[in-house]
Amino acid sequence: MKILITGVAGFIGSNLAYSLVKRGHKVIGIDNLNYGFLRNIKSLEGNPDFTFISGDIANPLILKDVKADVVVHLASQKIPRYTNALRTLEENYLMLRNVVQKCILDKSKIIFASTSDVYGKNPKIPFNENSDLVMGPTTVKRWAYALSKMYGEQYIIANKDEYNLTYTITRFFGSYGPHQNLTWWGGPQSVFIEKAFKQESIDIHGDGSQTRTFTYVDDTVNALVLCIENNNSDNEIFNTGGKSGEISIKDLAILIWKLVNGENAEPKLNYIPYSTFGNYEDVMRRVPDISKICSVMNFVPQWDLKSGLKATIEWQKDFITI
Ligand SMILES: NC(=O)c1ccc[n+]([C@@H]2O[C@H](COP(=O)([O-])OP(=O)(O)OC[C@H]3O[C@@H](n4cnc5c(N)ncnc54)[C@H](O)[C@@H]3O)[C@@H](O)[C@H]2O)c1
Repeated sequence: MKILITGVAGFIGSNLAYSLVKRGHKVIGIDNLNYGFLRNIKSLEGNPDFTFISGDIANPLILKDVKADVVVHLASQKIPRYTNALRTLEENYLMLRNVVQKCILDKSKIIFASTSDVYGKNPKIPFNENSDLVMGPTTVKRWAYALSKMYGEQYIIANKDEYNLTYTITRFFGSYGPHQNLTWWGGPQSVFIEKAFKQESIDIHGDGSQTRTFTYVDDTVNALVLCIENNNSDNEIFNTGGKSGEISIKDLAILIWKLVNGENAEPKLNYIPYSTFGNYEDVMRRVPDISKICSVMNFVPQWDLKSGLKATIEWQKDFITI
């Protein structure tokens, strides 16, 4: 198949591109390198089955001359904790509109990267695909990301109703692993690993009791590959998570510290009150029910958290300068 990946130089995009080329597909990848890196796709350079286009997907002209069977739309702004909510709202919409219009024109399927954050503050754990999406007030800018993804999901489904767009929506739960962004943009793992290597205090937001579930990137990619190659995924929404259970952010920090520095090492943790982020809200528990993707797509996650973290630490240690 011919597959277009937006955000190909980012974390999930680059891992997906390798996997697809290895499986015999032709991949075209677009990225403006705002948050991605050419080093992530370096070993695909010169491969006749891979084409890289540098450009901004918010500009519709960038898509003019490319055509694919499936478009995996990963390019995105994320939670505006350190950035700007307007950019998240505008850019996520503009990119999606361009990709959807192109998919309708070319009769391509869209696979849209949504997020566990759409479940927001829903206290009913675990979340299944029909669970309520419970947002906080619009005066709290962190919700701009979840709202942009909720809007994206509804926009895609409306285009299915009006123009027969074929889609799959994947709601990712905390993916981590090689090629992850090495700042907070990439989630807690990369920052915690760097701090542990440098034996510097790990910053914990709030008291660290907030929980997450994490997915090693190979499992995230395998789920995407199944959705690309198998039409059972058509017009479905899937929670896309791994087999690791719920863990608090504090326990994640301690686990990473010990994996890096040894079982008996005493972790250094530094608690940062949420008030320092201004008008901010966190999600206290986030746990997926992944039974739908397992039964409909025969998805079987392989990686537990400890093995995934060990592989990630092994990859990241080359980037640590002490
Ligand atoms: N990583 C996770 O755990 C996670 C969790 C939930 C949802 N997601 C979603 O999955 C997708 C991929 O996430 P990721 O972690 O790989 O992110 P990432 O930031 O590493 O990759 C996204 C890529 O998109 C590119 N990009 C952004 N705006 C662009 C634009 N206007 N034009 C061209 N390229 C642009 C960036 O440069 C980056 O390389 C995103 O849509 C994200 O919202 C990820």
